[in-house]
Amino acid sequence: MKATPVLVVDADAPDPEILSEAAAILCRGGLVAFPTETVYGLGANALDASAVARIFAAKGRPATNPVIVHVADADDVSRLVTDFPARARRLAEAFWPGPLTLVLPRRAEVPDVVTAGGPTVAVRVPAHPVAQGLLRASGLPIAAPSANRSTCLSPTRAAHVMRGLDGRIDLLLDAGPTRAGLESTVLDVMQDPPVLLRPGPIDRRRLEAIIGPVARRAESTSPIARSPGMMERHYAPRTPLEYVADDGRERVESLRGAGHRVGWLTFGPTTIRSSAGLTIFEMPSEPVAYAARLYDALHAFDDAGLDHIVAALPPEEDCWLAIHDRLKRAGSRHDLD
Ligand code: TXA
Ligand code: MG
Repeated sequence: MKATPVLVVDADAPDPEILSEAAAILCRGGLVAFPTETVYGLGANALDASAVARIFAAKGRPATNPVIVHVADADDVSRLVTDFPARARRLAEAFWPGPLTLVLPRRAEVPDVVTAGGPTVAVRVPAHPVAQGLLRASGLPIAAPSANRSTCLSPTRAAHVMRGLDGRIDLLLDAGPTRAGLESTVLDVMQDPPVLLRPGPIDRRRLEAIIGPVARRAESTSPIARSPGMMERHYAPRTPLEYVADDGRERVESLRGAGHRVGWLTFGPTTIRSSAGLTIFEMPSEPVAYAARLYDALHAFDDAGLDHIVAALPPEEDCWLAIHDRLKRAGSRHDLD
């Protein structure tokens, strides 16, 4: 396929002509990458099985991993599901539009390729004006996984999308960096208690404030809770990443002593500065700001051609759960002895 065209759009007030051009591509079965408030998504008409199959081909995604369907507002959910129970509606009122995905029983009209043949469909209403504009201009539910090759890091900038998908998709809408920087929270609301399948920007406490107890995936005994797409290796940079329970300094020094070029994700400020063979990202000690920078830092480490990344783990608290989850999927634990 030829190089993918990129159209720059204003993140707050996207040009309606560009949106209708992108919508026309979706309506004829094509693929459009677009920003959401979490990460960039790779969109296709969710009701067109062959268009959605093209997403899987472009990403190299296994057919066993279902995709999220995006709709413009909560009223559109009934087109996709057979039941939208009261507690799901309460969550939708509290957090939509926004970074929360709800797993609900699918209608037969939703193609098997979207749900990986399963009985449920994951639905969300994105807040980003470009995503909203595209949903409204096309009038379609849009199936959209993150716009990266399978198992790679999710894209928070247009350049990250191009790195993996240039020439494989029909159009990219570039509206600059995404705000939240981590994929949406995925919640299976059909189980009792509901199960957090993927921690994300809306943490468990905020969900529990609306609907009461929510189980973490590890706490659930149900086999369905093992969400099909939650394979261990996912969200990973190309550079090997190790996470450590301390500030990371000792591990960084020993790797440098052995002649390695190292990237260091600190937790909070450090007095050490980047130098030859050492690239430091000083990460914020507050989870929202940390999330917004994480993938950007990991993509930058990959660009710098380093040998190792060392990440200092944030504290073991609920508000850090999504970041712990992503760091653990991105790498392996290093214990100093
Ligand atoms: O923030 C996001 O969620 C981004 C933007 C583009 O919306 N999308 C995204 O999609 O991260 P993806 O495909 O990279 O991740 C979707 C996750 C996967 O872990 C998948 O297994 C899970 O949602 N999922 C999708 N449908 C599901 C279903 N029916 N049941 C359980 N899990 C499901
Ligand atoms: Mg993904």
